[in-house]
Amino acid sequence: MNTETISQLPKAELHLHIEGSLEPELLWQLASKHQVSLPYQSVEEIRAAYQFEDLQSFLDIYYQGASVLRDEEDFYQLMWRYLCRCREQNIVHAEIMFDPQTHTERGVGFEVFMPGFLRAIKDAESQWGMSAMLIMSFLRHLSEEEAMDTLEFAKPYYAHITAVGLDSSEVGNPPSKFERVFARARELGFKCVAHAGEEGPPEYIWQAIKLLGVDRIDHGVRCEEDTELMAYIKMRQLPLTVCPLSNLKLRVISAMQQHNILRLLEEGLLVTVNSDDPAYFGGQLNANYQALCDALDMTEVQLRQLAINSFKASFLDDSIKQKWI
Ligand code: ADE
Ligand code: ZN
Repeated sequence: MNTETISQLPKAELHLHIEGSLEPELLWQLASKHQVSLPYQSVEEIRAAYQFEDLQSFLDIYYQGASVLRDEEDFYQLMWRYLCRCREQNIVHAEIMFDPQTHTERGVGFEVFMPGFLRAIKDAESQWGMSAMLIMSFLRHLSEEEAMDTLEFAKPYYAHITAVGLDSSEVGNPPSKFERVFARARELGFKCVAHAGEEGPPEYIWQAIKLLGVDRIDHGVRCEEDTELMAYIKMRQLPLTVCPLSNLKLRVISAMQQHNILRLLEEGLLVTVNSDDPAYFGGQLNANYQALCDALDMTEVQLRQLAINSFKASFLDDSIKQKWI
């Protein structure tokens, strides 16, 4: 498939951690600005360190990277650079995750990062008309009480947050641990998503659906191991936000040829393509589509269906979705 076809297609991105869009160049620049010492001597050394064995080995480096984000301008720059990459790739709508606890735990509060994020989003909306929504993700390796506190701290910004999510170390931290905080978030009117079935078993996907009441599953690729679950996800048309290059880098699959996204698509599941943490996994959204084309002989019909799915699975109003479907 032609790279041009991929890049010209209007797309939405639904699974992107803003902290995972922090490129080594900005990381290096901010470390020097704030005099943070890094275990690397150059931008090239940072990039070379991005080799992972599994989710945890990635998360250790990802949290360390985020520690250079200190003031409002840093968060503006981070968001602005991602939104500019959206423009280059014809991503016309993005639903962007942020991890408040990665920042509040080190004394950087909502009053620092939220104004930076919101100003960048406003600039992109006014300069080229793209739309963006925010998903506040709880870190599942921390307690439910801490997630509940985070939900409370976010109160002044509720109007700017569309959904809550659940990320970080999956195995050993099942969705059931967060049942009460998701119930509270739903009461407050937030949409809900959760990472499930990335490294964790199909049982975690069931829990995210049944106990957390999620509107979408992030990753979810292990649903294929449970036929009843697959049938249920298909029947409900519950979207899966799949991240091919992430799955390869974190060794969820050992080669892109093994990726099950096209099988799930052909089964009738509402799967979408996303970049997860593009600065760490070696490619933006279009590179994820390209990797599927190269490894799986994806047809143009399948490519177009995946792009349409990205709008169908979004939290945009139906009237706006129609424009892209
Ligand atoms: N945080 C950032 N990227 C993540 C991923 N792929 N899985 C879980 N938590 C994450
Ligand atoms: Zn993710």
